[in-house]
Amino acid sequence: MAIIQWYPGHMNKAKNQIQACLNLVDVVLEIRDARLPQSSANPLLEQITQSKKRLIILNKKDLADPHQTSCWQDYLRQHNLGSIAIDAQHNSHLKVIISTIEKLMASKLDKYRNSGVKNYTIRVMCLGIPNVGKSTILNKLAGKKIAVTGNRPGVTKNQNWIKAPHHIELLDTPGVLWPKIDDQQVGLKLALSGALKADLVANEDLALFALEYWKKYYPQQLQLAYHFSDQVLADNSSDLLKLLAHQFSSTEYSWENVAQKIIQDVRKGILGRYTLDQVPLND
Ligand code: G4P
Repeated sequence: MAIIQWYPGHMNKAKNQIQACLNLVDVVLEIRDARLPQSSANPLLEQITQSKKRLIILNKKDLADPHQTSCWQDYLRQHNLGSIAIDAQHNSHLKVIISTIEKLMASKLDKYRNSGVKNYTIRVMCLGIPNVGKSTILNKLAGKKIAVTGNRPGVTKNQNWIKAPHHIELLDTPGVLWPKIDDQQVGLKLALSGALKADLVANEDLALFALEYWKKYYPQQLQLAYHFSDQVLADNSSDLLKLLAHQFSSTEYSWENVAQKIIQDVRKGILGRYTLDQVPLND
């Protein structure tokens, strides 16, 4: 299996650039993928956003296992981290972000109001790894399409402030961090969900990982999607992959094709909603 590297040099650059922007903002929206509440986070954010109001947004909740999303929110609450779960494609969910930002800022807003400043503008920045929905959220909050910079680590120069409704201003360039891939499981999870677009892991490894994971956590969804009997489900993942290869094609088949199909089925939701990070048990 290819080993996905995590480059500390890039992270340092991103850290410095984001830190420079942080001085300008009141609230940091840390966007994570609800299917990967842990693997799509970057521990660096914990350090660099310490002095800021921070809200974790578990985005793409429409794709995640709802029970796990709620367990993760409980877990984050226990660790004094506020979170909301949203589907950024729905305008109604954006109202939740705005009201939560206002709540986070309530005491500061009161202070300003008492000193005569009625309409303090809250400055907000979005941070997160690529593909978690930063641009979608920025566009929705701004109520228009913002020309967001590409998914490179760090924040580019020449940031502009975008006026949004509800006395909010948004930094037009989200802070992009690489995920911290310090074990292969994290790399597999990011690649399987599509968070990592690069071709860093072999499709066969990804498909085997998916079958193994679904056998363990979502066996009924796997059975439903591929008509597996209880007996077949007990087979090991390589045998399941072989079986599916025959199921998908009565003539010639290739491992690559069947692996690709399984990965697409995961991403399209044919294998149901899923969360690839389980809440830590003893933490
Ligand atoms: P980024 O800036 O953090 O890199 O992420 P971006 O907003 O570009 O979103 C990445 C992909 O995720 C986009 O799909 C976007 O539509 C989708 N997305 C964002 N939020 C949600 C959500 O809450 N639920 C679901 N299901 N999808 C979401 P794409 O196919 O890459 O682009 P497009 O076809 O939408 O243009």
